[in-house]
Amino acid sequence: MNRRYITTPIYYVNADPHIGHAHTSTMADVLKKMSQRDGSEVFMTTGTDEHGQKNQDAAEKSGLGITHYLDQQSARFRAAFDRLGVEYDMWVRTTHESHKAAVRHVLEKLFAHGVLVKKRYEGLYCVGCEMFKKTSDLDEAGRCPDHLAAPELLTEENYFLRLSLHQDWLVTFLQENPDWIQPEQYRNEVLGMLSEPLDDMCISRPKSRVSLGVELPFDPGFVAYVWFDALINYLSNLGWPGDEARVEAWWPNAVHLMAKDIIKTHCIYWPIMLRALDVPMPRRCLVHGYWVGEGNVKMSKTIGNVVVPDAVVDTFSADTLRFYLARNMRSSDSPISVELVRRCHNGDLVNNLGNLYSRVVKLTARDYGSAVPECPELHDEDQALLDSVLELVREGRGEFSFSAVTQLAQRILDAADLTNRHVNVTAPWELAKDPESSERVVSVLVACLESVRLIFEAGYPLLPNTATRALNNMNVPWTAETAKSWEPEARAISPGAMLGEDTMLFERVRDAG
Ligand code: MSP
Repeated sequence: MNRRYITTPIYYVNADPHIGHAHTSTMADVLKKMSQRDGSEVFMTTGTDEHGQKNQDAAEKSGLGITHYLDQQSARFRAAFDRLGVEYDMWVRTTHESHKAAVRHVLEKLFAHGVLVKKRYEGLYCVGCEMFKKTSDLDEAGRCPDHLAAPELLTEENYFLRLSLHQDWLVTFLQENPDWIQPEQYRNEVLGMLSEPLDDMCISRPKSRVSLGVELPFDPGFVAYVWFDALINYLSNLGWPGDEARVEAWWPNAVHLMAKDIIKTHCIYWPIMLRALDVPMPRRCLVHGYWVGEGNVKMSKTIGNVVVPDAVVDTFSADTLRFYLARNMRSSDSPISVELVRRCHNGDLVNNLGNLYSRVVKLTARDYGSAVPECPELHDEDQALLDSVLELVREGRGEFSFSAVTQLAQRILDAADLTNRHVNVTAPWELAKDPESSERVVSVLVACLESVRLIFEAGYPLLPNTATRALNNMNVPWTAETAKSWEPEARAISPGAMLGEDTMLFERVRDAG
């Protein structure tokens, strides 16, 4: 059986979860369900990154005490993802003992290999990024472009990993594996970063400045640098080091999901760390763009255009947010606002998908007492509709990328559009008036019911709650288990099957407040 190990970034807990964090973890869940549908076995992880300076600063400011603060914040992320139906197989916390043991193992191994050097260093540090910056990384005002704050000048003694040792190897690796970073624009960006000599990676922080972290086993005056520590979660989640069978089963199929902000750490630091440890490379890195406020204005509390996942779920539904995210993310920046979600909800979900479902279920109720009529052979035009829908839901199976997610959302809408138009054109309520057309009415209705079934079966990874509800109301047995290894079939609804009374899948939202 094919296996896939899907990871998301682990998120800093210094602030509450927002739409960006919700996005990557939700896409991990969508890709998990799409892979399972195609017959793969999946292990998916997400969670929180709980060490480092900015978490420490936030914990101190909260006055709650470090452990209490970390527990509370990690639980908030978990609750936000649970509400969105993210079915992770493991909730990662870098404060877990097993993870910290793996970090210590890496430190000891690299120290024993003699690849860590201790030296005094002066550099500009951005706490927001938890990274040293070059002046060329800053904007004209000398600020970090992501955090709009000037980095601090730090002079410290620290341990460093010489990235230049494996720089040439990494360039060759990326040239020989052109799809290791997807989409290509980010591969080009990484190759651009590699066209200049790499600075050494500072892998420690003096405890006098940062105490929240894993102490270096060979020097108790220091803790591991938060990024060095966090990246190792991708291995420690599999029981590395120690559980070789699990590592061998999953690691070669590891796919790291992330936004474009963290490609340097994932596509340069991480492969070089792995190389220094003699660990083979994961399978792939998939990169998406940023969510920005409507009109491409960066989200900020001051402007008041921050989209809070919980609020969107309250006003619409978890499936609405999942669908909006899936359908609208691009590899560059994409806009989001409550108003844009409202338009997608009312347009794509209420008017198109929800309306189609409600029409065919109500027609079956009105004309056949909700029992699906028998129709062994469909009329040619109705068969043609079903064939087109089948083709749409079969397309793109087996693909594993963010664009495959967007395309799935688009195909679901296209199939619903097509079926709605078929209902309009054939007008079964008109045909029903003529007794000579009774066979055709049955054929139209059955073809549309089968189309709707296919649309919800295919759309399950995006709309798991709605799809399960709609299918079960159509008397189609559908559970998380049956969603695995799905094969689209033209005909699956048994004649005589009784449809339920649930016809309103999405409620129109007039004013989202
Ligand atoms: N802790 C590190 C990651 C360590 S992984 C070994 C970190 N944390 S973070 O909290 O800043 O999360 C960054 C990630 O959150 C992005 O890569 C992306 O997955 C998600 N997003 C945060 N803001 C986002 C947007 N505005 N838009 C899309 N995704 C964004 O970096």
